[in-house]
Amino acid sequence: MLGNFTYCNPTKLYFGDNSISFLKDELKKYGENVLLVYGGGSIKKNGIYDEVVAILKDAGKNIAEVSGVMPNPTIHKLNEGIAIARAHKTDLILAVGGGSVCDYSKALSVSVNFEGDPWQKYYIDFEEPDCETIPVGCVLTMVGTGSEMNAGSVITYPEKKLKIGHVFADEKIMPRFTILNPKYTLTLPHYQMVAGIYDIFNHICEQYFSGEDDSTTDYIAEGLMRSVIHSSRIANKNPQDYEARSNIMWCATWALNTLLKKGKSTDWMVHMLGQAAGAVTDATHGMTLAAVSLPYYRYILPYGIAKFKRFAENVWGICADGKSDEQVANEGLLAMENWMKELGLVMSLSELGATEDMLPDICNGTIILDGGYKVLNKDEVMQILKESL
Ligand code: NZQ
Ligand code: ZN
Repeated sequence: MLGNFTYCNPTKLYFGDNSISFLKDELKKYGENVLLVYGGGSIKKNGIYDEVVAILKDAGKNIAEVSGVMPNPTIHKLNEGIAIARAHKTDLILAVGGGSVCDYSKALSVSVNFEGDPWQKYYIDFEEPDCETIPVGCVLTMVGTGSEMNAGSVITYPEKKLKIGHVFADEKIMPRFTILNPKYTLTLPHYQMVAGIYDIFNHICEQYFSGEDDSTTDYIAEGLMRSVIHSSRIANKNPQDYEARSNIMWCATWALNTLLKKGKSTDWMVHMLGQAAGAVTDATHGMTLAAVSLPYYRYILPYGIAKFKRFAENVWGICADGKSDEQVANEGLLAMENWMKELGLVMSLSELGATEDMLPDICNGTIILDGGYKVLNKDEVMQILKESL
């Protein structure tokens, strides 16, 4: 662990199939005006909405709602929510949904008491809030993003073809509490379940494929990856397997709650490519990552050969005997590819509706980061996008 760091994660987690029973205790800590934020209606169909509203009413809360938060939430939807939250004099934002609802709620938290343009301040200038923020609590219904225990918030500006994430430095932006009930995820369509599984796996990869020192964090990452692979295979065959789904939920939270970046640089280029593709296609986040991953990793493999070899051996169980490092490393990526196909993930951008004429916009929208094994230039981004098509 050669890096210097501090670690603090203030989000209180309640995990398990009775975890919603703790919501009433959490609610006592906040004022009476609760803004209930949710998506396009899944929580009304599966009963979670009724359960949460009953608890809010029992606690004597005054409820306002922002409904219809879409996957890849937009700046326009944020502006709509800001007006509702202000009018309600909101004391607590309760996000009930997936990463989109959680991210959106954090964006609301930092925007309700800010008079200017939140897009410019938080997503272009990457500033921290200098206004009072509103506490956020989460009831998670879709597993993948880690938004339930981090300070990330991704917002899309469709007309500008930009989808940008801001990971706030201020711990106050992290949810104050999150209810993690694996049963709530059992109604997810298979497509969303596997997109979420790949999102988790890639969050770990993004933090693993960087650095060359002997880091405990990398061993934790390998353990999490093995757990995701193991449980994903069970859940893929039987999505109603509670134990597998609960392991996946727990892995998701630890994959992106700041633990795995401790003491390390991080890569995040798959996410930069995937988010740029998402801005243009509005496709499901995890699937955009799946579509660009293999062309990206095969491109950077020669620059990080030792780590890709380690990945092959420690995560995929590839035997290195009598093989060159490059051969072992490539076999690791092949094993990952086979697993992705087994899950039924999208393997190309064209399956998400992207066409060749969209690639320049996707390329322009790709933010280039420098923490991984190879700092790309725009020509290389374009080449990887073409290979992903
Ligand atoms: O809107 P409803 O009707 O609720 O349907 C949702 C949505 O269509 C549905 N769903 C959620 N829970 C369900 C369910 N359907 C049936 N049963 C349930 N229990 O699933 C669909 C997808 O939901 P969404 O919240 O969009 O998915 P996800 O959790 O993958 O979130 C994606 C967003 O998070 C961002 C992504 O970029 C994207 O905008 N990310 C946030 C991160 C963070 N905060 O750190 C990191 C990630 O890398 C990611 O970028
Ligand atoms: Zn992600």
